[in-house]
Amino acid sequence: MILSKKSKSISPSPTLAVDAKAKQLKSERHDVISFGAGEPDFDTPDYIKSAAIGAINSGFTKYTPVGGIVELKKAVADAFKEEIGVDYETNQIIVSNGAKHCIFNALYCLCDEGDEVLIPSPYWVSYPEMVKLCGGTPVFVPTFEREDFKLKAENIKPLITERTKVLIINSPNNPTGSVYTREDLQEIADLALEHNIFVISDEIYDKLVYDGEKHVSIASLGEEIYNNTLVVNGVSKAYSMTGWRIGYAAGPKELIKAMTDFQSHATSNPNSIAQKAALEALKNPARNQAVGTMVEEFAKRREYMVERINKIEGISCRMPKGAFYVMMNVSKTFGKYIDGKLIENSTAFAEALLERYKVAVVPGIAFGADEYVRLSYATSMENIKEGLDRIEKFVKELS
Ligand SMILES: Cc1ncc(COP(=O)(O)O)c(C=O)c1O
Repeated sequence: MILSKKSKSISPSPTLAVDAKAKQLKSERHDVISFGAGEPDFDTPDYIKSAAIGAINSGFTKYTPVGGIVELKKAVADAFKEEIGVDYETNQIIVSNGAKHCIFNALYCLCDEGDEVLIPSPYWVSYPEMVKLCGGTPVFVPTFEREDFKLKAENIKPLITERTKVLIINSPNNPTGSVYTREDLQEIADLALEHNIFVISDEIYDKLVYDGEKHVSIASLGEEIYNNTLVVNGVSKAYSMTGWRIGYAAGPKELIKAMTDFQSHATSNPNSIAQKAALEALKNPARNQAVGTMVEEFAKRREYMVERINKIEGISCRMPKGAFYVMMNVSKTFGKYIDGKLIENSTAFAEALLERYKVAVVPGIAFGADEYVRLSYATSMENIKEGLDRIEKFVKELS
C-alpha cells in the first residue's frame, strides 16, 4: 500500500485501544472492569433526544450552513457569555463535528510546515497527532505532579523559539484533572502575549469541577488575550452527548472564517439533527440540573477512588479538581514482578493488570507520562469498588 508519509506518522489512539481490548475481553465473557472510558456513563437526557426526534419528523434533514445554524451559534454565544463572561458575535463562532474537529480545523489554519506548537505534558493523546497532521511540530512543556500538573511560565520560556506559533491549554485537564485558577492563567496569558503566541484553550470539561472550584477561561482575562485565543468547547462531556458529535469554537473572525472555509471542503456542516439536539442541550431550563446531578455523582466516586488508591502501599494519586480522571502514580511498582513478568513501565503495569485481574487502565505513556496510569471514574460506583479491590490484590502480589 502506498501510504503518504503524513499518514504513516499517525499513531492510533492508545486510549481507544485499551478500551477496545477491554471490550473484546468482555465480548469473550471475561468479567472486565474498565477504567478506560473517556465519556460520561450517563445517558443523553430525554429532552435532548426528543429535540432530535422532532428535527427528523419535521424534515430538518438537509445541509445547513457550513459552520452551523444561526440559532445554535447564538445559543453558543449566550452560553459563553453566561459561563465564562465573554461576548462573541455569531461570525466569531463555528460549530463542528466535536471539539476534536474544532481543534483540528484550528491547527490546520494556524500551522505552516515546521511551526511549533507548545503542548503541556501529560497531554491529551490527540494533540500531538493533530499538530503533526497539520504540518506543525509538537513541543512538549513538562508539568509536575508536585505542582498539581499545572503549566508554569518558567517551564514554557526555555522552549520558545522563533517558530513557536501556538500554545494549547486544557483546563479542566485530561488526563490530570487539574483546574487552572485565574492567577495560573494570567502568567500564561502574559507570556503568550509577550511572545505573540496564539492560544487554543480546550475547555471541554468546563462543567466538571469539584470542591467549589470555578472554571475560568483564559479568554476572560482581558481584551488582548481575548483577541489572541480560540476557546473550544462542546456538548460531548457536559450533556453526555459524545456520540452526537457537536463541538464549537469561538475566537478571532479571521480564524473562524478560515476554519469554516476549510470545513466547507472537508466535512461540510455538522449533522443537522445533532445541531438541533445541541441547541436544546444549551437552552433547556433543565440543563443545569442534569449537569449538577452528574457532577455530584462524579464527585462522590472521585473521593472514594482517591482515598482507596492512597491506602494501597506502592501506588498513590493527587485529588483531581476536575474532569473525570485520576492519574495514579505507579512508579514504585517498577522493577517488581508478577507471574514472572517484569513491571518495567506503565504499559507493562496496564497489561499485567488486565491479564491477571481483568482491570483496564490507560498506560501513562500514552499521555507522555510513563510513571502513571490513568483511571476514569466515569463508571459505576460498584465497578469502581470492585476494580479497586482487584488493583489492591494486584499490587500486593507484586514482588
Ligand atoms: C481534552 C479533550 N478535548 C477534546 C475532546 C474531544 O471532545 P469531542 O467529543 O467534543 O470531540 C476530548 C475527548 O476525550 C478531550 O478529552
